[in-house]
Order: sequence, then structure tokens, then C-alpha cells
Amino acid sequence: MSATIRASNDPLIHQWMPFTANRQFLEQPRIIARAEGVYYYNTRGEKLLDGSSGLYCIPLGHGRRDIREAVTKQMEELDYAPPFQFGVPPAFRLATEIAQITPPGLNRILFSGSGSEAVESALKVAIQYHRVRGEGARQRFVGRERGYHGVNFGGWSVGGMVNNRKAFGLGLPGVVHMRHTKIPENQFEMGEGTHGANLADDLQRFVDLYGADTIAACIVEPIAGSTGILVPPKGYLQRLRDICTRHGILLIFDEVITGFGRTGSAFAAETFGVTPDIMTMAKAISNGSIPMAAIAVREDIQQTILDAAPPSTVEFFHGYTYSAHPVACAAALATLKIYREENTFGRVRQLSPAFLEQIGALREIPFVTDTRGHGLLGAVDLEPQGAPGQRGFKVLCKAFEAGLVLRNAGDTIVLAPPFAATPDEISQMVSIMKETIIAN
Ligand SMILES: Cc1ncc(COP(=O)(O)O)c(C=O)c1O
Repeated sequence: MSATIRASNDPLIHQWMPFTANRQFLEQPRIIARAEGVYYYNTRGEKLLDGSSGLYCIPLGHGRRDIREAVTKQMEELDYAPPFQFGVPPAFRLATEIAQITPPGLNRILFSGSGSEAVESALKVAIQYHRVRGEGARQRFVGRERGYHGVNFGGWSVGGMVNNRKAFGLGLPGVVHMRHTKIPENQFEMGEGTHGANLADDLQRFVDLYGADTIAACIVEPIAGSTGILVPPKGYLQRLRDICTRHGILLIFDEVITGFGRTGSAFAAETFGVTPDIMTMAKAISNGSIPMAAIAVREDIQQTILDAAPPSTVEFFHGYTYSAHPVACAAALATLKIYREENTFGRVRQLSPAFLEQIGALREIPFVTDTRGHGLLGAVDLEPQGAPGQRGFKVLCKAFEAGLVLRNAGDTIVLAPPFAATPDEISQMVSIMKETIIAN
């Protein structure tokens, strides 16, 4: 029966699935029923390796008891309180703990419920910071082609995904995009590419064209994740930093994927030795257990915004019903405790070289056109077959049948193993990925 005329009592038709080929899914459902450690189980009870750490959000593996217990305890103690004009103890504790691992100076933490919300928060802080300093003409944002900053209007506008523009139109005015950093000169280089630091000079060109006094912020993912793991060229991020500093432009790092260990330190800012002014984080903050996100803001930026408002008034007109949700905070606190106690980020540094070597070795497959990676993020580009993205999607579907959950970004296949995976489990993931690629 065609997907569009399925019976109304079909148990699958009522959920409109996000970022999913809904019609294809109804023909070939991929249902995950249970998870434990680095494995999922389908409805037939068959095991699947979690090669994408959930959606980059479950580095510790599924079902961690400490997190579950912390969540239960918090539910019993305080399930919810309004976050506007009231505070909850776990939120203050969590902000303090996050401020201890963010780069120096980025120690004011504003919570939200998703990466998309964190991005909106960051963009709004940037605008308001400039306005209260009498630089209200700084309204433009500079993003980057192939950037992904979530689904809300600000986020997709600064992002550089073509599909958003096709589907939703113009987006935020005053946004311009630098070129992306995937260039042929760095083909098959794992880690930071040798070439391309000069691509950061696109930002300088926007300064020259529009005037620095019209630009509020430049936002990039240190490693572009959702469009296929674009690792920055050596020196690129520092060059962006220098241009921003020279022209009073705020630099925002979107660390929704790279935050909490993915590159081997707490944040990619630390890994690459470049400090932004504002940073977003989400995903691994609570090991995927409860939606949670945050931004870390330079202390003086927050202070400037606070000082500009009359006493006893709301200084930053922004927040969500579920900002600083106590249960999400408890989940994040338990997660950060495990990261500390188990030296989780150190484990990434140990696992990374062998992982990247295995990903790099896939270049031997004739129709693999590039391999890239950093930390526990690896990507393989496939020569398209048919319409762009079809081959990548086919690999995702076939890998699922072969016992592996992975990600495809068009014809790029992405592997992002949980940090809790053993070297053997990581090798198994790469091996299933390889076999599936070869067969498709
Ligand atoms: C860099 C980046 N920013 C923002 C987002 C949006 O996060 P969310 O899906 O939690 O809204 C994502 C999601 O993948 C992301 O990778």
C-alpha cells in the first residue's frame, strides 16, 4: 500500500517525524526499542551498535545508572519551578561547574532546552550587548556556508544549509556567509587541514564591504558537524579570532556537537587553543537523557548588559519555560561528575588515533572521495549515485539492517562512537560501515 493512503489506524502514521523521509520510513520503518551501553535493540530484540552516540549526545553510553538515579531523586525533590524571577539549587550548581571547564572568562552561563535555543540566545546576547554600548548599528551576523546552527529562524539563517533556504525562504535579514572550509587541497587529510587558513579572510572582506560597525558577531562551529565533519584548517580559527578582536565583532563558537569531549578536551575552543566570546553547548551536557543546553558568555558581556538596565528590571528579555529545568540540571550534574571521575575526555584522546586511522584507511574504497576526522568524529564522502544524498541514505538504511546506527549528511557517512565504546567495538563499527559502503 502506498505511504500516502495508509489506513488511519496504522500505528505509524500520526507521528510526523522530524528530519525524516516520512514516506520512505513508513515503507521501511527503523524502530529502536531499547538501549543499553553502546547498543540499541530493535523490536525483534536484535542488537545494533550505536555508531552516532545517539545524535552525538550519548558519549557515556545508554542507561547510565548514576544519571537515572539523579533524575529520579530530583523529580522527587523538585520537579519544576518557574525559571523567571525564581531559581533552583541544581541550576546554580551546574552553572558553577560548567564555568570551571569553559575557557577562561566565559563564566556566565544561561540555560535553555536545546541547541537551537542556545543559538538564538547567543545571537540575542550579541545584539543586545552592542545596543547597550551605543553600537546598535551592529545588527549583521556573519555565518558560514555548510554551517548548521539549529532549526529556529536565527539559527538557520546564520547557518549555511541550502535546504533551509529552499524550504523556508529568506530568513533573518543582514546575514552573510563566509565560504566553507572543505577544499580539495586538504583531501584525505585527517585532523586539521594544512591549507585554507586564509578562508578566514572572508570575514575581513565583509568588514571592508559593510563596515565593522554593522557587524554584531561571527558564528561558526569549530568543526562543522551536521554537514559532514569539516575540520578547520590549521590557523583558521585563530585568524577569525584576530579579525573579530581587531574589529569589535563577537566570536561565537557553536559547540553543540564539539562540547564535552568530542575533540578530546572539554570544548573544541580548548583543543584548538582559540577562545570565543560566547559559546553554545547542548547534546552531551546531559548524556542525552533530558533535553538541556546552555551558552557560556564572557563575564564582562553579561555585566555590560546587566549594568545598562534600570534597577529591579529584567535586563535580558529572553528565556524559556524549560530554561534551567531542575531535572535536566540534575541529569547534567550527574553527567559532568562521570566525565570528571572517569576522565572521559582523556579517553577520547586515547581512542582517537586508532579510530582516525581506521576511518582514513577507507580511502582505499574506489568511490570514497574524501575522509576526514578529529577526536571521535569521522567522515567519509562517497561519490553520489543517482540524486545527491541517495547513496548516503542507502548506506544508513543498509547499515541499520547490518547492525549499526550511523549518520549520513547527504553522501557523507559519519561515525561518532560513544566515548564508552571499547577499541574493539569501534573497530566493529568501522568494519560494518566499510562493508555497507562497499556493498552500496
Ligand atoms: C552545531 C549545532 N548547533 C545547533 C544544533 C541544534 O541543536 P538542537 O537539535 O538540540 O536544537 C545542532 C544540532 O545538531 C548542532 O549540531
